[in-house]
Amino acid sequence: MPVTAVIGAQWGDEGKGKIVDLLAQNANMVIRFSGGNNAGHTVLNELGEFKLHIIPAGIFNSGTRNIIGSGTVVHIPTLLEELKELSEKNISVDNLMISAKAHLVMPWHIWMDEAEEFRRTNAQKIGTTKRGMGPVFADKHARCGLRVGELLNLDYFRKHFEEVYNDKIRLLKYVYGYKQKLTAFSKLFDEFIAQAKPIKRFIADTERITWDYLDRDLNILLEGAQGVLLDIQHGTYPFCTSSNVGVGAAAEGSGIPPSYINEVIAVVKAYTTRIGPGAFPTRAEAENDEKLRELGREYGATTGRPRMCGWIDLPLLGYANHLNGFTSIAVTKLDILSNFDRIFVGTRYFERSSESHPYPLSHGDPFRVLNIDGIRAEYYEAPGWNIDISDIRDRADLPKEAEHYLRLIEIAAGAKAKFISVGPGREETIVC
Ligand code: GDP
Ligand code: IMO
Ligand code: MG
Repeated sequence: MPVTAVIGAQWGDEGKGKIVDLLAQNANMVIRFSGGNNAGHTVLNELGEFKLHIIPAGIFNSGTRNIIGSGTVVHIPTLLEELKELSEKNISVDNLMISAKAHLVMPWHIWMDEAEEFRRTNAQKIGTTKRGMGPVFADKHARCGLRVGELLNLDYFRKHFEEVYNDKIRLLKYVYGYKQKLTAFSKLFDEFIAQAKPIKRFIADTERITWDYLDRDLNILLEGAQGVLLDIQHGTYPFCTSSNVGVGAAAEGSGIPPSYINEVIAVVKAYTTRIGPGAFPTRAEAENDEKLRELGREYGATTGRPRMCGWIDLPLLGYANHLNGFTSIAVTKLDILSNFDRIFVGTRYFERSSESHPYPLSHGDPFRVLNIDGIRAEYYEAPGWNIDISDIRDRADLPKEAEHYLRLIEIAAGAKAKFISVGPGREETIVC
């Protein structure tokens, strides 16, 4: 702090929600800076267990201003559900604000996401969360998106809504052949406006407020979504999300100048998971894949889909660090590895020849990888520690095998661990 970005280093679900909840206790402001309700951030604290999709994980601290930043996309029904769940648990949302510049996820974005995914062959399917991310970010960049701030000028919003609606319906009907959920304009518009009404009070010129916090040297936490390998630019394209997820996006999506970000904390899961298809060189064989999934409860916080599980991938961490310049890391779920005698550590990849391949493992990139499915990782077998570490709160008390394992991760990621998480709860953390 004062400005700290927390980003995912792998393919998402590293435990960003837990780390942001922990750090937010000392933050004056938390800004969720990218993505939409494709994210699912789990928080377990004294108030209960929460799966947040768009509301920042600092919301549990009444003195912390929480901002849904300009880089995000907002699906109003999801936001309403989250607000309802929080208020049912007596958690105040008076500290929440939404940037007027955030884009709205419209019903047609979700229909288009479904239709596009349906049209893809099995080998092409991206396995999206079907939350409309591809289409909403495409519209943002094509400059035909609807933004949250427009809700404050209903006449303007109605005209814009109708214009875009007419185009999208034609596209859906005549290009995609999609008719399933299409709804008549006036019904769709009226429903949309009725749902949007309760969120209007949160809309603000959030950048101005953020700059005021910067001027006053207050602590600001930038909450990332997804992970570096899901980034639209540097991830395993096209098997990735449709937005930028790294520290560059943290600046853009919050309105904070890049040079003001003092700390970049990468959340690194002690093993690797991936929920959608695409490259996964360190995926474990069936038995350990299943064992990691069951012990780590690796099921999507958004879609409930089982996550594919595998071993730590050291070249991936180096790649993620090259792109984001980690100043420290938070290693999560180390407790899950207590149940393995030997822990595999992916040290490099090779195809059929013995030549090793560096990242990026993007698909169809002739300079790097021709046959991504043929990529295999080479492993170093690290010794396990086989004792429960979930009660340990001091790094010096960790078994020497766990310390050895952490060092491997730190070297690959190019940064020291500031946090080591040994359980899902806020307190189950070693602060180094
Ligand atoms: P996020 O998207 O990065 O916020 O991560 P998710 O919430 O999707 O997935 C992380 C899962 O791991 C959640 O169920 C967390 O409660 C859980 N979790 C986080 N840290 C730890 C940890 O150190 N140990 C264990 N056992 N679970 C953890
Ligand atoms: P958090 O913030 C894990 C994955 C999807 C799919 C791909 C594209 O919880 O870490 P999209 O719906 O974004 O077009 O899907 O990206 N994906 C995530 N995987 N964690 C996430 O977020 C993800 N957000 C998107 O599963 O493979
Ligand atoms: Mg998640």
